[in-house]
Amino acid sequence: MSTDLTEDTITEVVQKTFDTAGDERFRQLFRSLVQHLHDFAREVRLTGDEWFTAMDFIERLGKISSPTRQEVVLLSDLLGLSMLLDTMHDSPGGSATTSALLGPFYVEGRPTVPNGADIANGVAGTPMFVTGRVVDEHGRPIPKAHVDTWHSDGTGFYDVQLTEQLHGEFAMRALLTTDADGRFWYRSITPRYYPVPTDGPCGEIMRAANRSVMRPQHVHFWFHADGYHPLITQLFLKDDPYIGRDAVFADQTSLQADFVRHEPGTAPDGTHVDQPFVTLNWTFTLAAE
Ligand code: BEZ
Ligand code: FE
Repeated sequence: MSTDLTEDTITEVVQKTFDTAGDERFRQLFRSLVQHLHDFAREVRLTGDEWFTAMDFIERLGKISSPTRQEVVLLSDLLGLSMLLDTMHDSPGGSATTSALLGPFYVEGRPTVPNGADIANGVAGTPMFVTGRVVDEHGRPIPKAHVDTWHSDGTGFYDVQLTEQLHGEFAMRALLTTDADGRFWYRSITPRYYPVPTDGPCGEIMRAANRSVMRPQHVHFWFHADGYHPLITQLFLKDDPYIGRDAVFADQTSLQADFVRHEPGTAPDGTHVDQPFVTLNWTFTLAAE
């Protein structure tokens, strides 16, 4: 191997070391990664101090990460990489509902509930009644689709952030199944806008950039149905104060919904509610596999 490296020759020398890899895709990924990484360093004339700061930053990203704290994924979200991948791969186009990133608050083990269940599990808030329909691209209902849903409480916290209050129990998340007409419905409480976690290394970037750390009010959904592309998405409050400037770029126009406010009265499930409540209704379209 040459030892007379220059700024202009080193990239190819490093790239060639990947040519022995058996996997063609691996070769392509690493050759391209080296190219872009080196081009970046040349373009910005990266200094030694800046390199050290970056290495320290990456090390701290790893150290703070855990199964319930996904700081590396958060960085990807904040740099728009997660939504770039969504727009490249996860949105099948056509009339299918737009996808939006999973986020760090989806967790395994959520309860399976029948339609009509109250999934708030005792957490106080403004009642919210969600009614949805899952259809194919011809508008035909998809029965027996699995519908995962999760959202924050009225102060912007998820159950996994309220472990003391909830004694580790789940709340505001559930798995439902659509009926013969593709419908699902549940009762919960109304979520609110909230900040992405800012007490880790990603927070330093957000402060240095003077960027908003807020996510507009939203409800998460993840649909699975035999013969269809899975769909991960979110519905956003159309007139949220933070709409159009989601810190993680997921609040696409086609996902902005009316969370309709009602005076006390009869809810969509026929029950009487003696306080103001909110309804959210949406039709989700899945693309055939
Ligand atoms: C969320 O919506 O749960 C979320 C997504 C990305 C970063 C932080 C939170
Ligand atoms: Fe969320």
